[in-house]
This record gives sequence, structure tokens and C-alpha cells, in this order.
Amino acid sequence: MTSDEIMKKADEDLIAVYNRFPVVFSGGEGMYLFDNDGKRYLDFASGIGVNAFGYGDKEIAKELSMQLGTLVHVSNLYYTEPLSKAAEAVKEISGLDRVFFTNSGAEAVEGALKTAKRYYFNKTGKNDAKVIAMNSSFHGRTIGAVSVTGTDAYRSPFYPLMEGAVFADYNDLSSVEKLIDARTCAIIMETVQGEGGIHPATAEFIKGIRRLCDEHDILLVLDEIQCGMCRTGEFFAFQKYDVKPDILTSAKALGLGLPVGAFIVSERVAKNSLKPGDHGSTYGGNPLCTSAVSLSIRLMKERRVREHVKELTPYFEETLDRIVEGSDKVKERRGEGFMQGLLLDENVKARDIVSAALSKGLILLTAEGNVIRMLPPLIAEKEDFDRMNEILSSLL
Ligand SMILES: Cc1ncc(COP(=O)(O)O)c(C=O)c1O
Repeated sequence: MTSDEIMKKADEDLIAVYNRFPVVFSGGEGMYLFDNDGKRYLDFASGIGVNAFGYGDKEIAKELSMQLGTLVHVSNLYYTEPLSKAAEAVKEISGLDRVFFTNSGAEAVEGALKTAKRYYFNKTGKNDAKVIAMNSSFHGRTIGAVSVTGTDAYRSPFYPLMEGAVFADYNDLSSVEKLIDARTCAIIMETVQGEGGIHPATAEFIKGIRRLCDEHDILLVLDEIQCGMCRTGEFFAFQKYDVKPDILTSAKALGLGLPVGAFIVSERVAKNSLKPGDHGSTYGGNPLCTSAVSLSIRLMKERRVREHVKELTPYFEETLDRIVEGSDKVKERRGEGFMQGLLLDENVKARDIVSAALSKGLILLTAEGNVIRMLPPLIAEKEDFDRMNEILSSLL
């Protein structure tokens, strides 16, 4: 099929919830994707933070193909070795104690919310739990996840949502403190807000939240679906601060592009929350996806991805800072590691810049508040930042 035929057919046959860019991708290698007509695109999006190792990695293809030929799915009625091994690996990198594998990020958030509600119910015997979430947050598209997502456009068409979600301002501890009462079972936040415009938590805020949670026996849920798995230079962004969540959510780069997420909890939470029969998933934790989790973690260690991100971040940031200095259309840079955003002046639309960049062979993302968001594969090198700079600067 030609690209035009593929796009026309998809637009006719799929439910129209996405504003797709007019390009059909058919392959990739390293930092580059190729379209149906053979044009190359430098990727600064990683399929929205998923493809940490870029494209066409032979070792990944070989290992996953082997598992595909061995065993794909058996359900959670039985044990498999990939499941056991992946749980051990996720525990080790997170410093937490028990794992549940899901099929997506939103489902990991659902699991985290159910765990927190169950913890509260076990403690109080009451069904009136409240969750404090953050304005400008994003936690996914299912009803529970939307209920704690702090962007009205994602919420208002779907009322009534889950009861008991209230919103505070990110990086404003007193706004959180004001909302706490005896019904608060959890505080949920991203360690670095992604879709909401790339806002890293300040050390003061995240430590303050941990203190409030400890004082009031509230569970701290850190959503690291976008900012986790080495994107900020640590396996998880919270590891930069002297804090630990009670519940952690992960997905995206966890599984090398296979649909897998996880919620991970401390032993104390595990003992006092979900009981057999409370939660489940047919596919969740299948041998194919969990072998991808173990492989992703092993390769991140073997290929020293954390060290690479830490080493290259100053170059990435300096490159972006030069773009900010050189253009009156860019107001500021925000970010951590390989998760960066450029805030644009209101006279320029981030979506227009992202479209123009695409036609020049550079893939970028947007985020709320007129921000160009960059989530390059974690294998990006100096020459990739230089090329991104050339294309973006020519547009700005
Ligand atoms: C922080 C965060 N949480 C949750 C999600 C939802 O993940 P998924 O799209 O896999 O359901 C996303 C997706 O962008 C995210 O960035």
C-alpha cells in the first residue's frame, strides 16, 4: 500500500481519537526512524518515552524472538520463570518489595489506586477514601487514572469520575497540606511531570510530601511511568532524593516496546492492602512481556545507560540553553536528564513547530502549556543533539 492509502484507510476505520501526523513509519535503526518512502527521521520522542534503546537492536530482536518461539502466554493461574525473574529484577532496581505486572501505564495507576484504597479500608473499615493528586498531572486514560489527572480537558467529558480525588499545586507543599484530612489515603504525583509541561519536583517538595505522608499514615504513590527507567540518569527519578515511595508505578521503557507496566509496593503496604482475589489481569506478567522487562533492565546495566545519560545531560542542556538564548520565541528550558522541555512564546504554537520539524526529519513531542517536549532514546550521542539543534534552530 502507498502511504496515502494507509493513512486514508486508517482514518476511515479507526476510532478518531488521535491527531496523527501525516507520516507512515515502517522501520528504524539506532536514533532514526524510516518512513514508508525511505525518508529518515531523527527521533527525539522514543514513541513517547518507550524506546530507550532506539530501533533495530539485534540483541533485543534475538532475545525476544527466542521467547516468542518458546512461550508467550499462560495466564496468572500458573508460574513461569520469566515472571519470577522480572519481579526480582524490578524489586532490585526500585528498592521496593512486591510487584504486580500490568499491560499499560494507566493500568499500573489503577492498581496503585486500588492498593491505596484497600490499605485505607483495611485500616478504617470505611469506604470514603480520598486521594490527593496534582494540578497539571497526567496518569492515563482509564477512569481511575483520569480521576487523578489534573487537566480538565481529559476529565470533564467523563464525569462522574472516581469519587474522592482532590487537587493540589505541584511544588507547593502548603497547597497539599491544606487538603489532608482523616480520609486521605494517598498522595499521587509524578516525580517529574511529563504531559503537563515537564516540571521536575523540587527536593523540598518531594521530601515535604514524604514527611506529610509519614506523619498522617498516607501512602505516597510516585508515578514514574514517563520519568523512570533511567530517563533522568537513575533507574527511578526519586532515587536522586533521599525519599522512597510506598507505591511506585512504571511502564513505557520498562518493556522495550512490549505492552507492560507494573506497580511496585513496600512489604508493609503489601501486607496491609490487596488480598487474593482483589486484583488480576489475564495478560499481565506474561512470559513474553516479562522477559522484555528483565532484558531491558539487564541491558540498561550492561550498557551503562544511567552513566551515559548522566554524562550527556550537560551537553543536551547546554544545547537547549543555546536555543533559548538564540531565539525570542523560546522562553525557558525545563527538565531532568533526557526528559527536557522548551517553553514557547504564546505567538508560536508548539504543535506547529513539531509539525514543521517532522517535515524536516526531526521527531519532537508537545506537552501542555505550549511546550516542546523531548524524550530521545537513551542512546543519543552528542552528534544527535547537534543535529536536533540545527533543525530546530533553523525553524525557530
Ligand atoms: C506519568 C504517566 N502516567 C501514566 C501514563 C499512562 O500510561 P499508558 O499510556 O501506558 O496507559 C502516562 C502516559 O503517557 C504517563 O506519562
